[in-house]
This record gives sequence, structure tokens and C-alpha cells, in this order.
Amino acid sequence: MTGTVAVIGAGQMGTGIAQTVAQHGMNVLLADIDLATAEKAVAGIEKGLGKLVGRGKLEVADAEAALAKITPIGDYAPMKDAALIIEAATEREEVKKSIFEAAGKVLASDAIMASNTSSIPITRMANYSPDPERFIGLHFFNPVPIMGLIEVIPGLATSDETTERTKAFAEALGKQVVLSQDEPGFVVNRILLPMINEAIFVLGQSTAGIADIDKGCRLGLNHPMGPLELADFVGLDTCLDIIRVLYKTTRDTKYRPAPLLVKYVEAGWLGRKTGRGFYDYTAETPVPTR
Ligand code: CAA
Ligand code: NAD
Repeated sequence: MTGTVAVIGAGQMGTGIAQTVAQHGMNVLLADIDLATAEKAVAGIEKGLGKLVGRGKLEVADAEAALAKITPIGDYAPMKDAALIIEAATEREEVKKSIFEAAGKVLASDAIMASNTSSIPITRMANYSPDPERFIGLHFFNPVPIMGLIEVIPGLATSDETTERTKAFAEALGKQVVLSQDEPGFVVNRILLPMINEAIFVLGQSTAGIADIDKGCRLGLNHPMGPLELADFVGLDTCLDIIRVLYKTTRDTKYRPAPLLVKYVEAGWLGRKTGRGFYDYTAETPVPTR
């Protein structure tokens, strides 16, 4: 895919997507709820690129070139020039619906609209866009610049041309593609989220503490992060939103959210992004809270 890519939602995923797309030579328009938030997100990307330069992982010129390709925006109008619009906002259907409706008003006649949703059905969300044939799921993994996978999820109405163009875009970012049917949680989250949720049940039942649950999975399964560290990394609000979508769409009780996960979200302890989740991130090294 050539041309500009617009990214809507400049949280951890949107910034990772913007950085990765820019590092692969494409222009990026980055939007959030307002211009100031989008500008703050670009400043965050600049800081992240600076760290990579400092650690000798990236040349100064390459960091500058990537940054120059990202433009923060405060409204939808500039997206009329985008060949692809990627929605990466909060995992709530009503939020995404309002974005697809607004972005749909400026979507170019041959552009593709994609959602980075972790779990919300693509076929249903396609109806909020002007052309369901050009709507698709494009599911990146966190942290986007380093993870090697993108799931591509065509909805029922998605055209083969849209799927092929989207796969080619994902591959142009140096990622490998897994094609998934539009089923709840797609492939990876359908497997991952029950594991994270179960780890929280294990914690809630005091079978072991946070450090031991994570240590068990790191050393016993060779996972790079334990499930509770990973939940904090993903965001506990996002984990709860995903498991709730799985539960509501399948009505299968194996996806019922762990009560402790609900409590943490109600307390505003959302993980790394708020400084506290299962670990306290205000200390120099994260400290388990139980
Ligand atoms: N841009 C580019 N490169 C970056 C980067 C960035 N923003 N941040 C880090 N890197 C590079 C580092 O330079 C380093 O490179 P080298 O290997 O060449 O040295 C490499 O990435 C690893 O970085 P670190 O040494 O800082 O970190 P680490 O070794 O502790 O690994 C981790 C960190 C990659 C996050 C690892 O802990 C991990 O893989 N965790 C699991 C992540 C995971 O499971 N993600 C999926 C979450 S689920 C999801 O995404 C789906 C959903 O819908 C919820
Ligand atoms: P986040 O909380 O870090 O960021 C969400 C961003 O969306 C925030 O910056 C927020 O201001 C913005 N936003 C909210 N409403 C908006 C609106 N109406 N218009 C524009 N921006 C709006 O969340 P995240 O972790 O980046 O997740 C974003 C999406 O990516 C979700 O759908 C999530 O399920 C999915 N996802 C998350 C992960 C993960 O590990 N966190 C991985 C893959 C996919």
C-alpha cells in the first residue's frame, strides 16, 4: 500500500502502529480525542525513538526521518487523503462506532477502513462504516514495533481485494500475517485472555501470590512475561473489555470475568498505564502488590 495511513486513537497501540508505519517509510496522520492529546502522543514517540538511539539500536537520521513522517491532527478532515484508516481507540463498541461514522464521512472512495479491535465482531462494526466491503480487522500485537504478528480478520462483507491489500500492507511492515475468521477473540486473544483471566482467579483464590504466578509461567512455560505482568502491560481495562466481549458473544461461562479483575478496574488500577495494577510501577523496579 502506498500513500498516507491515518491512525485514530493514540494510546499505546496507536502510537506503536504510527511509529512502525513511519519507520517503514509511510506518512502517518495521528489522531486522538483532540489535537493536544495527539501532539502529546507524538512527543512520546519521539522520546521512545530517542531511547532506541541512546541504546545504539537506531541511527539518529532514521529516528528523525520516522518522526518527520508523523503528523498529529485534531479533526477528521485531513484523513480524506489516507489510503488506509486504522482505528486503535478504546475497546468499546460505542467509541468505535462514533469514530467509524465520523471517519466514514471523509473516507476516500478507494480507501480501506480497519479496526485494531482485540475482540469486537468485525462484521457488526462494518455496518458503522460507509462501505462494509472496504472494512476489515487489522489486529496488531503489543509492543507493535517488536511483535512479529498481525491478525487480519475479514468480516462477512469484506471483499477479497480489501483482504489482499490489507495483508500486503501488514507484510510491508515486516510482519507475518495470520488470517482469522470473524469469531470472538479471533485466534490469539481467544487463547490468551482465558489464560490471563484464569491467572486472576488463581490469585483471587490465594493459590499463590502475584510473583509466584508470574514466575511459574515464565519459568514453567518459558513465556517472556507472566500472565499478571502481561495483563498490566495490555491494560486491565482492555483485558476486562475483551473477556466481557467473549462472555457476551458466546454466552459461555468459561469466559466469565474474574471478580478480582473487575475490582481492580473499578479501583482505577489499570496496570502500567496508571502506575498500578498487579504491580506498583512507581518504584524503580515493579513491586507485586499481593
Ligand atoms: N521500537 C523498536 N524496538 C523496540 C522498542 C520500540 N518501541 N522497544 C523495545 N524495542 C526493542 C529493544 O531495542 C530490544 O531490541 P534487541 O533485542 O535488538 O536488543 C527488544 O525490542 C527487546 O526490548 P527490551 O530488551 O527492552 O525488552 P525485553 O527483552 O524485556 O522484552 C517484551 C520486552 C518484548 C515486551 C517481552 O517482555 C515480551 O515479548 N512480552 C510479551 C509481549 C506479549 O505477549 N505481547 C502480546 C500482548 S497481547 C496483544 O497484544 C493482543 C491484544 O489484543 C491484547
Ligand atoms: P489505550 O487506553 O492505551 O489508548 C486508547 C486511546 O484511544 C486513548 O489515547 C484515548 O484517548 C483514545 N480515544 C478514546 N476515545 C477516542 C475517540 N472518540 N477518538 C479518538 N481517540 C479516542 O488503549 P490501547 O491499549 O492502545 O488499545 C487500543 C485498541 O487496541 C483497543 O481496541 C484494544 O483492544 C486494542 N489492542 C490493545 C492491545 C494491548 O495490548 N493494549 C493489543 C492489541 C490491540
